[in-house]
Amino acid sequence: MIRDWIRDLPKAELHIHIEGSLEPELMFALADRHQMTLPYDSIEAAHQAYQFQDLQSFLDLYYAGANVLRTEQDFYDLTWNYLQRARQQGVHHTEIFFDPQTHTQRGIAFETVITGIHQALVEGKSQLDISSHLILCFLRHLSAEDAMKTLEEALPYQDWIVGVGLDSSEQGHPPSKFTAVFDRARGQGFLTVAHAGEEGPPEYIWEAIELLKVARIDHGVRSPEDPKLMEWLKEHQIPLTVCPLSNIELGVFETLKQHPIKQLLDAGLNVSVNSDDPAYFGGYVQENFMAIYEALDLSQRDLYQLAKNSFLSSFLSESEKEEAI
Ligand code: HPA
Ligand code: ZN
Repeated sequence: MIRDWIRDLPKAELHIHIEGSLEPELMFALADRHQMTLPYDSIEAAHQAYQFQDLQSFLDLYYAGANVLRTEQDFYDLTWNYLQRARQQGVHHTEIFFDPQTHTQRGIAFETVITGIHQALVEGKSQLDISSHLILCFLRHLSAEDAMKTLEEALPYQDWIVGVGLDSSEQGHPPSKFTAVFDRARGQGFLTVAHAGEEGPPEYIWEAIELLKVARIDHGVRSPEDPKLMEWLKEHQIPLTVCPLSNIELGVFETLKQHPIKQLLDAGLNVSVNSDDPAYFGGYVQENFMAIYEALDLSQRDLYQLAKNSFLSSFLSESEKEEAI
């Protein structure tokens, strides 16, 4: 069965927002824990509410959902649940995004957020044999000053954070807004990535490369609109962390048949398959693989290459990569 073959294929996941792995079941459990009321009557009602027109309509529910995350234990439980799902799907290594500003804006301490997540990652290694890195994402709809403040807050925890990224509402918030923040982050030794070319134009991908000096582009699926960019991405093998089900759920492409992942792969770009916000988009990494396999007539060789790319694009050391592949 191809489904089992995909599950057993060793994979790395490089584009997963930990807040986006908050399943309605856990959301209800945490609401109970903190005696909060949710805007949904039931778990089923939450699932039904997850119908999005675009990135912003998703982000509104995603930030509202994150309200139930309050204590270190909550962040631990969130991360632990994700790691268990990932393990069941053949994920051997994961590089997790977290959005500290979503929480510090509500009065939750940075330390609470990162300690809960980090503790689960440590146990993920010892108990599930999943290696991991953590990437701090700045919310691009907030100011560059706020991002800079967040970077300063992160410095005492730098041993736990491999790099910084950029997420949230893309249109109108180009990478150039964060040039100084990323300069400072790189100066401190952080690697950099950025969401670009999801809803935003190819120019934002160029900015992420030229101004933020990113090691990877998250999404990047609008690259085919710019042939020069396609050439550059191929020549420099700049990885694109692609999230097929997310792109359909947010209306970036109407159907999976129109999704460019095979086109990108066939053009020689370094693309991988990722889940983005699996609790909201109806699938973890295995379901993303399965969906593109069915819609785009991928060969097993294509699937193998996508999985191999996920390790090659990761922030593992060269020897760790060799061991993993
Ligand atoms: N794009 C931008 N911001 C996000 C996403 C995304 O797909 N998921 C969570 N935050
Ligand atoms: Zn994302």
